[in-house]
Formats: sequence, C-alpha cells, structure tokens
Amino acid sequence: MLPRGLTAALIAAAAQRGLAYFGASLDARQSSEEPFSPPYYPAPNGGWVSTWAEAYEKAHSVVSNLTLAEKVNLTTGTGIFMGPCAGQTGSVPRLGIPSLCLHDSPLGVRNTDHNTAFPAGITVGATFDKSLMYERGVGLGEEARGKGVNVLLGPSVGPMGRKPRGGRNWEGFGFDPVLQGVGAAQTIKGMQSTGAIACIKHLIGNEQEMHRMSSVVTQGYSSNIDDRTLHEFYLWPFAEGVRAEVGSVMIAYNDVNKSACSQNSKLINGILKDELGFQGFVVTDWLAHLGGVSSALAGLDMDMPGDGPIPLLGNSYWGYELSRSILNGTVPVDRLNDMVTRILAAWFKMGQDQDYPLPNFSSNTEDERGLLYPGALFSPVGIVNQYVDVQADHDITARVIARDAITLLKNEGDLLPLRVNDSLKVFGTDAGPDPQGLNSCTDKGCNRGVLTMGWGSGTSKLPYLITPQEAIANITPTAEFYITDSFPSSIEANDEDIAIVFINSDSGENYITVDGNPGDRTASGLHAWHNGDGLVKAAAERFSQVVVVIHTVGPIILEEWVDLDPVKAVLVAHLPGQEAGYSLTDVLFGDYSPSGHLPYTIPREEANYPSSVGLLQQPFGQIQDYYTEGIYIDYRHFLKENITPRYPFGHGLSYTTFEFSEPTVSVVTPLDSAYPPSRSAKGSAPTYPTTIPPASEAAWPASFDRIWRYIYPYLDNPQADAAVANSTNKYAYPDGYTTEPKPPPRAGGAEGGNPALWDVAFSIQVTVTNTGKRPGRAVAQLYVELPESIGLDTPSRQLRQFEKTGILEAGASETLMLGITRKDVSVWDVMVQDWKTVVGGEGVKVYIGESVVDLKVECEVGGRCSIL
Ligand SMILES: *[C@@H]1O[C@H](CO)[C@@H](O)[C@H](O)[C@H]1NC(C)=O
Ligand SMILES: *[C@@H]1O[C@H](CO)[C@@H](O)[C@H](O)[C@H]1NC(C)=O
Ligand SMILES: *[C@@H]1O[C@H](CO)[C@@H](O)[C@H](O)[C@H]1NC(C)=O
Ligand SMILES: *[C@@H]1O[C@H](CO)[C@@H](O)[C@H](O)[C@H]1NC(C)=O
Ligand SMILES: *[C@@H]1O[C@H](CO)[C@@H](O)[C@H](O)[C@H]1NC(C)=O
Ligand SMILES: *[C@@H]1O[C@H](CO)[C@@H](O)[C@H](O)[C@H]1NC(C)=O
Ligand SMILES: *[C@@H]1O[C@H](CO)[C@@H](O)[C@H](O)[C@H]1NC(C)=O
Repeated sequence: MLPRGLTAALIAAAAQRGLAYFGASLDARQSSEEPFSPPYYPAPNGGWVSTWAEAYEKAHSVVSNLTLAEKVNLTTGTGIFMGPCAGQTGSVPRLGIPSLCLHDSPLGVRNTDHNTAFPAGITVGATFDKSLMYERGVGLGEEARGKGVNVLLGPSVGPMGRKPRGGRNWEGFGFDPVLQGVGAAQTIKGMQSTGAIACIKHLIGNEQEMHRMSSVVTQGYSSNIDDRTLHEFYLWPFAEGVRAEVGSVMIAYNDVNKSACSQNSKLINGILKDELGFQGFVVTDWLAHLGGVSSALAGLDMDMPGDGPIPLLGNSYWGYELSRSILNGTVPVDRLNDMVTRILAAWFKMGQDQDYPLPNFSSNTEDERGLLYPGALFSPVGIVNQYVDVQADHDITARVIARDAITLLKNEGDLLPLRVNDSLKVFGTDAGPDPQGLNSCTDKGCNRGVLTMGWGSGTSKLPYLITPQEAIANITPTAEFYITDSFPSSIEANDEDIAIVFINSDSGENYITVDGNPGDRTASGLHAWHNGDGLVKAAAERFSQVVVVIHTVGPIILEEWVDLDPVKAVLVAHLPGQEAGYSLTDVLFGDYSPSGHLPYTIPREEANYPSSVGLLQQPFGQIQDYYTEGIYIDYRHFLKENITPRYPFGHGLSYTTFEFSEPTVSVVTPLDSAYPPSRSAKGSAPTYPTTIPPASEAAWPASFDRIWRYIYPYLDNPQADAAVANSTNKYAYPDGYTTEPKPPPRAGGAEGGNPALWDVAFSIQVTVTNTGKRPGRAVAQLYVELPESIGLDTPSRQLRQFEKTGILEAGASETLMLGITRKDVSVWDVMVQDWKTVVGGEGVKVYIGESVVDLKVECEVGGRCSIL
C-alpha cells in the first residue's frame, strides 16, 4: 500500500533524479559515480587520545591476560531474551568482569518499574536549554546505573528529520544538526557523569522506518549520501557526540551507498574511527549484523543481541564463529584485541569496575520471579525484579523540561494565560487517560489518551501520569471535560466560554503498526489523528474562543483551522512524558511564560517539502534513497525555495516581549588560514602480541553446564579449525583490504576531528531585556550566512549556536555570549577532505533572532553589529 500523497509517479521521478544525482549535484567537485562505499582498511586501533590513556592502560593490562574465549565473550551478545536486558554480552568470571547490560531507551529505562518517563528528545530540543539537556542526561544516567544498565541506548540523533513522516524523528532533538549536536553532547556528558555508558545512534541515514532492515528475505534501503551532505548535516551531531567522549556508537540497519552500515568500512573505520577519532566501541543495532568476518574487518566491535540471521536458534555471526575466524587466521588477532580493548576502555573510563550494580530488573516480566533466560528452551527460574526505585527527584527535571518546551504558536488578543475563574470546556481524548489503563499497550504501540511519547523501543513505562484533565481540574474545579474525539452536539457555548481542544499526532518504530501507520506516518500523513482537525473546527463553530493544545511527534498541518477567527491560541506541548498535565497548566494559567521554540518547521502543506524526502516503498529490489536535496532539509529548504511556512523553525511566543540590544562581535581566534592548522600526530595505542592463540583457548570447558540456545565463544573441535589456517582454503577479503594503516586523515586529530575546528573564532555578546509585563525566558538563536566566496552554495541561514536566558522579571536584562567556532563557518571540502572557511571570516554574516526569520541583530564578523 502506498502512503497517502505518495504516488508511484513520485517514486519514479525520485528514481530518475537519483540517476542524475551524483553528476548534477550542488557541488561541482563531487564525483559522478553510482552509489559506492570505498573500502577503508584496516580498522584504526583505539587508545591514542590522552583523555582515554588511563582507561586504555587498565584495559590493556586486562586484555593482555584474556584467553580467546574470554575476549570473544565480551564482543558478542548471549542471544535475544537471554538475560534481563535488551542485550547482554558474555562475561569473564575469572577476572570478575560481568556481562554488560545494554538496554533502551533515550527517554528512560525501558520496560521496568519505578523509573522516570522523561520528555522525549524532540521536547528537550524545543527547550533550547543546554542545562536542562544536561540535567536530563544526569537523570537518565542515574536511573540506568540504579537498575544495573551498563550501556543506555541513547541519545538518538539519527534520524535527523529528513522525512517529516519518518517514524522516529521524535527520539532526537530536532531537524537541525546543531540542535541535535548540542542535545546529544549535553545528554552524553550528563549520562556519563553518573558512570553509565551512553550510546549515540543510529549511524547513519536511518531516515525512514519502513524497509530499514535487511534479513534473509529482504534487503534494507540504501541511503545514498554524498560526502558533503554527510559531513555538513547527518554526521555533524555524531561528531559532537564523539567530542563529548561518548562511550559507544550504534550503527543503523540500513545501507549507506549500498554497503550495510554494520560492515561499511568507510563509515566505521574511515569516518568514525579515523577521522572523528572515536575511542569507544561500535555496536550493531539489534539484529543488524549481516556478516562475521566482513563486519569485524570493517570496524564493528560488538554484536547485539548476538543472534545470527534467524534469532533464537543459538546461532551467531560472532561468538564461536569469531573464535573460529581468529584461529583460522582470517580475522587478525589485532582486530579482536582492539574490539575488546575499546569495550573495556569505555567500561573503565566510566568507572564501571568500581561498585557498578548488576541488573536488578527484568525487561521480560513484571513478576518478582521469572525465567533467567526466557529465550532458552529450558531456563532456570530466579528473582529477576527487585523493583529498585531509581526516580529520586527526577520528576522535577521532567516537569521543568516539559514546561519549558511548550511552544506558543499563536495567542491572539492575549487569550492566554487563562484565569482560574475562566469558564473552560475541554475536548479531546488527548486530554485524558488511556481508558484501558496506564501502560496498557506494549512499547506504547497505541494512541489512547494524552500522547506522552511515540512508540517502539525508544519508550519507557510511565510510573504515573498526570493528565491535562487532572491538572486542569485541580486548578479550576468548574472546568467541564468532554473526553471524546467527536464533538458533542448538545454543547451550548456563551461568549465567555473558552474551549480547549486537545489533538495529537503519533509515530514510532516499524515493528508495531498503529492505526495503519507502520512506524512512519503513512496513513495519517502530517494530520492530527482521531479526527483532530474536525474536533477543532466543530469547537470553532460553537465557541468564540478556542485554545488548541497539540501533542505531536513532529510537524503537523494546521491549515484546516488555524486561521479561523475563534482559534485564538495554539500551543505545541510536544511529547511531555509523565508530567504532561502539570507542565501544561504551569503555562496555561500563567505561572510560567511559554519559552519553547519549534525544533522544526511547520509547513502549510506537504508539497512544501522537496519531493525527495517522501517515504519510499517498492515491492522488489533494494530501495535506493538518494539524498538529492543535499543539506537543504527543513528551514534550509524553505529559505532556499522562498516558501513561507505556517510557522518557521525556532518560532515560539511568550507572554512577555524581549528586546535585543548592545550587540558586539569580537575576534577570539583569528581565522588566518582557509583550512585549520595541521593536526597533531596520533598518540600511541596499546599493542599486543599478534600470534594466533592456541586453539585450546576456545575449547568448551570440561563439564560445562550449557544453556540451550545460548551463544557461547566455544568450538567443538577447535584443533581442526585451526588447521584451516594452513590449508589452501583462502578467505576472499573485500577489495581494497589491507593491513597497512592509512595515513591519519587531515580532518582528524582528536575526538570529533581536528581540535582547531572548535576554536572559537568570533564571539557575539548581546543584551536581552524583558520589555513586557510578565516574567519570561528568551532564546537567542544564532544563524550564520556564508559569503559566496566560500565557493559553494550554502543555506542563507544555518543555526550554529543558541543560549537561553534565565527567568527575566519585567524590565530585567541578561547579557548572553555566543561563540562561533571555525567549524561553524566552514564547509566540507570534498576534494581536500577538510573543513574550509573564508580567511578572516571576510563576508560572513551572523544573525541573532527569535526564529529563523524573526531576526533581531545582524553582525558582520570582524565588523560591526546592527539592530534590525
Ligand atoms: C557515498 O558515495 C559518495 C559519492 O560517491 C561518496 O562521496 C561518499 O564518500 C560515500 N560515503 C560512504 C560512507 O561510503
Ligand atoms: C596480567 O595480570 C597480572 C596480574 O593481574 C598483571 O600483573 C599483569 O600485568 C597482566 N599482564 C599483562 C601482560 O599486562
Ligand atoms: C562467557 O560468558 C558466559 C556467560 O556470561 C559465561 O558463562 C562463561 O563462563 C564465559 N566464558 C569465559 C571463558 O569466561
Ligand atoms: C575462518 O572462519 C570464518 C568464520 O567461520 C569463516 O567465515 C572464514 O571463511 C574462515 N576462513 C577460512 C580461510 O576458512
Ligand atoms: C540493584 O540495585 C540496587 C541499588 O542500585 C543495589 O543495591 C543492588 O545491589 C542491585 N542488585 C544487584 C543484583 O546488583
Ligand atoms: C474572573 O475574574 C476577573 C477579575 O478577577 C473578572 O474580571 C472576570 O470577569 C472573571 N471572569 C469570569 C468568567 O467570571
Ligand atoms: C600450521 O602448520 C605448521 C607446520 O605444520 C604448524 O607448526 C602450525 O602450528 C600450524 N598452524 C596452525 C594455526 O595450526
């Protein structure tokens, strides 16, 4: 079935454009080849960055002493449902190294109890508040640690919102690389400050849910991304995450340039490990592993949950097969040592060798006792849930984030804030509870009651939920509630009455289909679910004052009613998590001014977007998804095509008003060369003997009590396998395979890339004054415009920095400082393979605004600033 608004003709047109793509691109210097991922071997070893030296030293001394089976154990999951977590590695009992627990999600510990269901990533992005991003990271890390989760699978910065209908855009922070990058870095720093290992995901190009996975019966789509688009857009937040010292990276299901991400050597070895200098370990997305030797050589370090092509059979591409490929000499011992060293270095760096709890929950059951290995044919039973309360006071952070994310789109005649004595009539099931009970559907795979998060693995259970209905009733006992999506025909309204209408739009992960939407919003499109548009229109027919509250995963089309005269106020409350109710009434009734800003553009119609960002489906063969629009995603596209959206990126009103004054720009580190100063040489990485270990190291231990279908590192007859190395049976290495290290890439040099890219080139100072009558918080959004002399077409505005004031009382001011780095004013030079800027910042313009089009200040860097 084709999604609404997407015709076969559109697919054909997209495919046609694809053919011309790499030739007629935005950058004349790009190669004109068909999608192809060049080989990049060997895998660079970790350990050459000074801030990781101590962790690597500890890892080195352990790995030096590990046997083959012990090493392999730490790289491979024990099988799906073979433990309490989404996945767990094998262990090294001899040295007290436990199985590592890897578990979802980016907004809270998934499928457990006494946890916090934080607001989703998109909500956090809408706050434009760096310290709240960090605080949430701390909360997530503390809860992961408290439950015994070693690696919490978040933050998500891919998808990046390329496809507005894409199912998982809401797990990330917004449709802009800088907003995503700041969100990711703050989350990672917060999480890892508690000892939990963060896992930034999904690398890369997982922009739609349908057809993302390859399996024995189908092939996932190929995201065909040119080098410049990759660097300037999709890779940007990953670079920020690596710079924040993230401990792990999860690769995506799909292919990039026709090579699966889990075995794409250019992506993992070349870009992530060499250019970005990533020091942690690379893990597959769940069941994204497609080949054993190929992925090892391409730089993969951990296989999750461990299963081979068909889960639950006890088969694996790694585990015992990795042991075999070491013994037969096909995978270099050096590669295995690097995998394990990276994994243990992350473990030591976060201090997990010191009193880190073991898992004390099971994501498989809510019962206290349960199967220890539900995936096994016969499993022992034991205590699996200790119901540890990890919530602390994280409800406060959850509420502040949900509140400070609320984005006021429209407020005619200052209808908001409401007064306690206003006569309110509330409509829509989105204001109320799930009639079938809290957490009544698995992984939130339903849309009943107030929408607190999307669905899929990026969720957690709600420990409790304050609905808008409860919160409003708590403030105005006279409010009347009509928790229905069909407007009650009997309603009478008089002039004082105010209708508050709640509507929503949901999406999620592909393994669950909700109301015909298989993750992506195929059936609903960008429209409100459950007759939401009809409900608002019906209310607007009866009431002269209507407030619309929207809970949404992303852009939503408001055109059917947003200009109707009675619709005075519209606010987007995003995906608020457990504090949906009070965070909303905090704003509705004026205790706080709204201060959220749109982390994406709201279009007038879907045709506003480039046609290349529609969802792709086809019955046979691999879907080729060409990123023909380049970096012109979301507002970059709207500006380029001169399309006026309904509400621009960054838009968000307050109950008060702000003035920006006294802007100044100063040079901090002069940009006296087009390319950054040369990188320093790599530090040394740990080394080990490269001899193939004795086959006995992979033999089954005597009288071993094996769990049926569990994945082990052992081989039945390792002696025989070892002999293969001496046979004529040669392994067909990929084209371009070599064991000779590549010269270090010039754009690299430290975690994230050449550290000079983060030199602050210019600093802008601006004073923000609250010129209204109520307290409120302002966001200064900094956009840059590069001059034509840079030699490439660039968007007329690109968000590069933002800062948010504290709560300013009426009349109060705060001075904000916003730094612009060398990278912020550079483009990716495909030929030179480095970031290029204009010397001296000549002609670079900087704007500060309250949205991408509502600009208040303009500065010529190296010159003066003016008020607009
Ligand atoms: C994808 O293909 C483009 C065009 O050939 C190339 O520039 C880019 O480096 C490739 N990226 C990866 C990760 O293979
Ligand atoms: C092996 O472990 C021992 C004792 O724990 C330690 O002293 C030694 O340094 C380790 N071996 C290597 C080669 O690091
Ligand atoms: C590998 O891990 C499994 C599961 O934790 C454990 O039972 C086994 O003893 C480990 N093997 C070695 C060699 O440490
Ligand atoms: C070595 O073992 C691996 C894993 O079973 C296998 O893929 C590879 O083909 C083997 N190499 C040789 C030369 O037999
Ligand atoms: C579970 O966590 C609690 C609190 O963090 C800790 O006291 C307990 O030891 C943990 N359980 C296990 C099995 O480690
Ligand atoms: C609510 O109270 C204010 C004064 O506090 C008054 O002006 C207004 O008319 C009242 N509204 C209603 C609906 O009673
Ligand atoms: C290969 O053969 C040589 C000579 O017979 C032997 O010494 C060596 O151990 C064999 N290598 C392996 C990995 O079996």
